[in-house]
Amino acid sequence: MLTELGAGLDGGAKRSFKNLIIFEGSMLVRRWDGLLDSIMSGKTAAQLQDIDDNFELMARSPEHVRIFNEAMTDLTRLVTHDLRQAYDFGMISHLMDVGGGSGELMGVVALVYSTIRGTVFDLPRCADAANQHFGHLGISDRIDFVAGDFFHEVPAVSDAIIVKSIIHDWNDERSRSILGNCRKVLPQKGRLLLFERAMPELPSTDDAARSCAMSDLNMLRGPGGRERTEREYYRLLTESGFSPIAVLRADRFNLIVSRLC
Ligand SMILES: C[S@@+](CC[C@H](N)C(=O)[O-])C[C@H]1O[C@@H](n2cnc3c(N)ncnc32)[C@H](O)[C@@H]1O
Repeated sequence: MLTELGAGLDGGAKRSFKNLIIFEGSMLVRRWDGLLDSIMSGKTAAQLQDIDDNFELMARSPEHVRIFNEAMTDLTRLVTHDLRQAYDFGMISHLMDVGGGSGELMGVVALVYSTIRGTVFDLPRCADAANQHFGHLGISDRIDFVAGDFFHEVPAVSDAIIVKSIIHDWNDERSRSILGNCRKVLPQKGRLLLFERAMPELPSTDDAARSCAMSDLNMLRGPGGRERTEREYYRLLTESGFSPIAVLRADRFNLIVSRLC
């Protein structure tokens, strides 16, 4: 009989992390190899190969893109239940998930809130998986996918924007650019929902803090970002024209709700 941990390796399980393990085993583990080079230079694995953006490097292998996207879907599926419990999306008419990947989070919200409209905004390479997912869930009439680059602009379609596991990918300057683009398109009464894990103010050895510290190293070596404390997220948000008004807990994640300054 499978243990609870073993059962998670079944791709059909409700809380499957099979794709995450494939990502860890086939891509991440190789990245760790040069961790010391990144610590010594402050450069990501991609930058050490003279490529500025890790996502651009990943795009050179469609197989890597697929593995990564499927792993992100698994990771998101593990927290959607807690997110739904933590926040009432019923106040939103049109939600946009910026960097929403293959649409896992949007799909869950759309199934619970049967009148909400939604847009997933991400790089073109996520379009097929997202549209297929929406079709499979029967929500394509009110949820769409828009392709683009969040450093350039995001569409002005929604009264609320969620960004999950996006800001931790980037340094402060790039994060302010993404948040600033979100700020530009939200209406005056709009809301920004920032969904990230928070680094503890002081280092500790409990499971959550260790996993956050590992992710911090992973961000340094991978996309070039970092895990941040709640206070650091508040500062970034304020510098980008937002005023944080609430922080809600959802498993190991924090949902920081902000309005426009
Ligand atoms: C860590 S994943 C998070 C995905 C999703 N929010 C989740 O939590 O499952 C980062 C996402 O940012 C997207 N991304 C990276 N660079 C981007 C860009 N310049 N413009 C739009 N999306 C981008 C990636 O394609 C990927 O889906």
